Amino acid sequence: MATTLAKAAEGAVAERTHAARIEHVSKSFPGPAGSQLVLDDISLDVAPGEFVTLLGASGCGKSTLLNLVAGLDKPSAGRIETAGRPALMFQEHALFPWLTAGKNIELALRLRGVAKADRKPEAERLLELVRLGGAYGKRVHELSGGMRQRVALARALAQDSRLLLMDEPFAALDAITRDVLHGELTRIWAETGVSVLFVTHNVREAVRLAERVVLLSSRPGRIAKEWTVDIAQPRRIEDADVAELSLEITEHLRGEIRRHGQH
Ligand SMILES: Nc1ncnc2c1ncn2[C@@H]1O[C@H](COP(=O)(O)OP(=O)(O)OP(=O)(O)O)[C@@H](O)[C@H]1O
Ligand SMILES: [Mg+2]
Repeated sequence: MATTLAKAAEGAVAERTHAARIEHVSKSFPGPAGSQLVLDDISLDVAPGEFVTLLGASGCGKSTLLNLVAGLDKPSAGRIETAGRPALMFQEHALFPWLTAGKNIELALRLRGVAKADRKPEAERLLELVRLGGAYGKRVHELSGGMRQRVALARALAQDSRLLLMDEPFAALDAITRDVLHGELTRIWAETGVSVLFVTHNVREAVRLAERVVLLSSRPGRIAKEWTVDIAQPRRIEDADVAELSLEITEHLRGEIRRHGQH
């Protein structure tokens, strides 16, 4: 009994101090030439309410790490703890095309156990939050790419998770739409206090959004360096401070890519 209580107390403390804790995580996949080490000894904490971007060259293991944090796969070594089950958002919206925007969100609410009568007003509130009020009855094919990603964001928020995992969610959008959604995400993050772990290979995007940028090296992925972004929000991607830090980080990213012989 005493041990159980002690464990519960320990858990409560751990929950307060981080939204995600990645401890000495490595991941290997079987390959034609034997096992391939993709992630090597990654340790990273995301604090409650923190916005962290994970930056690295293509193929360095960003999505692999995010999938491990999401619990979609298991680390080969090390451990990962999250405060509750994280919500996920990917480059492709993964909305159900036969459902309306509103019903896609209500499905997430239903899975969360929200009572039937409360689902529609909550879906409408979430659509307002992503500035899509009025899109409740629209089917996915009637929405633009940017609108679909807004619905996908609303659906992720419907899970009411304390940790939002985002894997290049705006990569397929045009620059202007992406810029608008950066602003929306920053606003929603500040309003909801959700923690975000955001994967990108776009340095400017990483600096535009995050409080902390973590650079992964390639083959295997290791934490190469990290930066605290001490620039007031709301930022613009073209701000001089954003550009200056992006330049510094790009130099390091180029160094990592050169070291591994990629182009
Ligand atoms: N299920 C798997 N089985 C075998 N190899 C895998 C698997 N998943 C990923 N890999 C390999 O792990 C490496 C990292 O892949 P990952 O998708 O994590 O990279 P990434 O950093 O997200 O790249 P990108 O920026 O292109 O999305 C790649 O070499 C990939 O081929
Ligand atoms: Mg990826």
